[in-house]
Amino acid sequence: MTILGLQRGVSWLVLKIASIAILAKLTKDQFLSVNTNIDAEYDFIVVGGGSAGSVVASRLSEVAEWRVLLLEAGGEPPLQTYVPGFAPLLIGTQVDWAYRIEPQTYCHRGYEGDSFFLPSGRVLGGGSSINWMLYVRGNRRDFNNWEAMGNPTWGYRHVLPFFKKSENYSGHGRANYRGRGGPVKVERQPWMLPIARGILKAAKLLGYSHIDYNGPEQIGFSVPDLSTSNGRRSSTAHSYLSPASTRPNLHILTNAFVTQIMFNNDKKAVGVRFIHDGQEKSVGAVKEVVLSTGAIRSPQLLMVSGVGPAWHLKQHKIPVLHDLEGVGENFQDHIMTMGLTWSIDRGAVSFASYFWPSAISKYTSQGTGPWTMPAGISVLGWTKAENGDDPLWPDVQYIASSLTLVTEYGTTLGSSLGFKKNVFRNYFYSVMGRIGFTILPSLTRPKSRGTIRLRSSLPQDPPVVDPNYFSHNDDVTTMVRGIRFALKLGNSSILKKKYGAKLLKKPLPGCEKIVYNSDAYWACFARSYASTNYHPVGTCKMGPSTDPKAVVDHTLRVYGVSGLRVVDASIMPLVTTGNTNAPTIMIGEKAAHMIKRAWSRKVTSRKRSSAQERRESGL
Ligand SMILES: Cc1cc2nc3c(=O)[nH]c(=O)nc-3n(C[C@H](O)[C@H](O)[C@H](O)COP(=O)(O)OP(=O)(O)OC[C@H]3O[C@@H](n4cnc5c(N)ncnc54)[C@H](O)[C@@H]3O)c2cc1C
Ligand SMILES: *[C@@H]1O[C@H](CO)[C@@H](O)[C@H](O)[C@H]1NC(C)=O
Ligand SMILES: *[C@@H]1O[C@H](CO)[C@@H](O)[C@H](O)[C@H]1NC(C)=O
Repeated sequence: MTILGLQRGVSWLVLKIASIAILAKLTKDQFLSVNTNIDAEYDFIVVGGGSAGSVVASRLSEVAEWRVLLLEAGGEPPLQTYVPGFAPLLIGTQVDWAYRIEPQTYCHRGYEGDSFFLPSGRVLGGGSSINWMLYVRGNRRDFNNWEAMGNPTWGYRHVLPFFKKSENYSGHGRANYRGRGGPVKVERQPWMLPIARGILKAAKLLGYSHIDYNGPEQIGFSVPDLSTSNGRRSSTAHSYLSPASTRPNLHILTNAFVTQIMFNNDKKAVGVRFIHDGQEKSVGAVKEVVLSTGAIRSPQLLMVSGVGPAWHLKQHKIPVLHDLEGVGENFQDHIMTMGLTWSIDRGAVSFASYFWPSAISKYTSQGTGPWTMPAGISVLGWTKAENGDDPLWPDVQYIASSLTLVTEYGTTLGSSLGFKKNVFRNYFYSVMGRIGFTILPSLTRPKSRGTIRLRSSLPQDPPVVDPNYFSHNDDVTTMVRGIRFALKLGNSSILKKKYGAKLLKKPLPGCEKIVYNSDAYWACFARSYASTNYHPVGTCKMGPSTDPKAVVDHTLRVYGVSGLRVVDASIMPLVTTGNTNAPTIMIGEKAAHMIKRAWSRKVTSRKRSSAQERRESGL
């Protein structure tokens, strides 16, 4: 065994022991009641209990006379999902679908097979139960733009109330923007290392001050808001489903994998088929089926049920119910460059100090300390855009972590993200186990588009996911600009003087023939080491009926059929300028509100013309 192998082995063991020590002291603070038996039919069936689906099921069940069923393929969130420090360790476990993406042509050259496993939550709460908890709403221009694309009632002034409704913010923030008393608990990152303060100061020297990026503007560098409370995760399973789960009119069935949406002869969705306990079952929906299985599974479920591009359905011998060419198109994801690494002499904690009893008790008794940081993330920032018309609509986001990929000898992310082992070791060797920081530039408004296609007509077969990262050349140019800003920030004299920051200057294997620090070098670096920021969206795009690629209208009803909506991250016509969980929760809130309005109007005023109803059902 090599020395490195030994170090990694020991690190891994220590990590296991620490998790046992921490988990032994945690208790589930909220009761979630799930059902074992369900009825033959419901008013609403929500498929997928993720970030959005949990919100919809919970909000619809507020109407006591509506019977609501939530079907989720995964189970209840296990204890380790509560702890931000464990978040990177959830990747590849039973709570992750771990989709293998197609080998990439323009990217991922430093990853095994030019590919990687795209994590995605398979558990109640979905992504909100396994993600890194960064609470970021996006830029108000994102939503104004959605509205300008032909989606009435999705402008910022319309969606802001739903962001506020979902949030219980414990920090100081402007009351016009931040929510109090909503289900999702949000707090300022409760613990900060000196190096994070240094990075904030360095940003300030470059003209970027500390702001509430969830307020009116985003530009600046700040301590992140996390969807946690005293350092414990606030997933939609806990925040929305737990309190709702005791309502007699809400049934939650876990380990239920939905295989098909059933339609009647009028193309109205009337129920779903699913597998539970190894048996094929079905359940009826009187009013609506709400599809909330996320940007990868929602287009797949539509297609296996006969709604999608006819040419593609025919390839798989699926009877075409409605030819809808946009299903599975418009795949967008944020891509970020890993590996920009600075070692430091002081100002951060070593891997070992995570395991000091004081660090563990700080977490378990006070809800603070290093375990409250997801992957060491401690600073978020957005710089002014340079190639758009509006400089305040940023094209790059920066995520700074007070850990490098190898502070823990590469035992967690370094081993689960799928880097080529020889490249990884060669590049990082000199900083293995050292304290340091990394700055990840992430494209907020990428131009590359990918697809979700069927592997087969079997719903159990994971779909073919091709993000097609960096297929648009502008994305590489923007990323190189992002890398240069990250270098400028990390190279700040303040970080050098106070913490001894030193850039890892070793040329990345595969790019060593290109002149170091040239644009071409950083383009090569990005094409090798950039990867997902875990934000796939857009594959069931919302848009007007005049847009041939639109899958749902602005009330999220699927075109060409009735009784069916898609409510999750897949409806975003363009990805938001930040992490996608908070906007997905907002989509769930807004959809539930629209559904309530649409059905109460049907009951109270049958006289309205249907045109008027259509016009107004947005809000
Ligand atoms: C590792 C990781 C880190 C992330 N970090 C952040 C972050 O820090 N901040 C942030 O804002 N965002 C983050 N995200 C992104 C964010 O979590 C997602 O954008 C969001 O959860 C998407 O919500 P959704 O409702 O569209 O889908 P999901 O939350 O994925 O919900 C879909 C649900 O449907 C279920 N399902 C799927 N197929 C079926 C089926 N056939 N039958 C029944 N159930 C089914 C799934 O199990 C899942 O529970 C991260 C994501 C990941 C994976
Ligand atoms: C919101 O959070 C505060 C603590 O910040 C707490 O006292 C309050 O009970 C919470 N409200 C709800 C509705 O959960
Ligand atoms: C950052 O510092 C490194 C090494 O000191 C140097 O090679 C590089 O040119 C610097 N980059 C920037 C953008 O200042």
